[in-house]
Amino acid sequence: MKYFFLAFTGLVAFTIGVFGFRGGKTIKTPIEIFPDMDRMDFVQSQRPSDFFHDGLGARLPVAGTVPHASDDGVFPVEFGEGRSGHYYTGAINDYFANGLPLENLGLIGEDATSEMQALLRRGQDRFSIFCAICHGESGDGTGTISDYMAAKIANLHEVRFGSDQYPDGKLYHVITYGQGLMGGYGASIPVRDRWAIVAYVRALQDSRKAPAPVPLENDNPAGGSIN
Ligand code: HEC
Repeated sequence: MKYFFLAFTGLVAFTIGVFGFRGGKTIKTPIEIFPDMDRMDFVQSQRPSDFFHDGLGARLPVAGTVPHASDDGVFPVEFGEGRSGHYYTGAINDYFANGLPLENLGLIGEDATSEMQALLRRGQDRFSIFCAICHGESGDGTGTISDYMAAKIANLHEVRFGSDQYPDGKLYHVITYGQGLMGGYGASIPVRDRWAIVAYVRALQDSRKAPAPVPLENDNPAGGSIN
């Protein structure tokens, strides 16, 4: 009985000691058993920070950051006011358009050739980053992933993907929204870059087409017929 009272008194003293002063105000730093992330190493917005060499807490976007809201941004930029038609949707009057939206891409006028070359280079660069991992650098569907992916990756050199059967606008649409097992890239590739990829895919396809046959000439200077 004696021990019970001792233990009971101890327990009461402990309980009051620990919980009894809850709600009381103090200016002393409270005992922290779990800090609950009360203090963290983060920069308050609009405040300086000596972590960065220029002393600014607010940082500029990393070079190459893709803007969402600009005219040439990524999803959902094409759903904005006045953003419809060939350039943004790949379609004209509910039909996929063939050919590039030349005016929007700046491919009209004196600099058209050099602009087209620049667009193709950009397309090659973007294709290598976004598509080659699956479709392969040459577009034949044998990218690195193809060894590990059970699904068959489309070979873009197949006749059914040629521009006479598969309009440029549809290619643009597939890059934007994906198709079947392929995911869409509308949220990561800006509109202009999607068109650059379309142009580059066409260049890849043309690179595999057999050159037009050269007619044999009868007056072969080496004499005699090749046949
Ligand atoms: C993660 C792998 C992967 C990436 C990356 C990828 N694709 Fe695909 N793509 C596929 C697969 C798989 C298919 C076949 C889809 C199907 O038929 O279900 C396909 C199909 C296609 C098709 C044919 C669609 C059709 O109508 O049948 C086109 C065109 C295409 N891809 C273009 C591209 C372009 C351009 C890029 C780069 C922006 C790209 N793909 C990136 C995996 C990928």
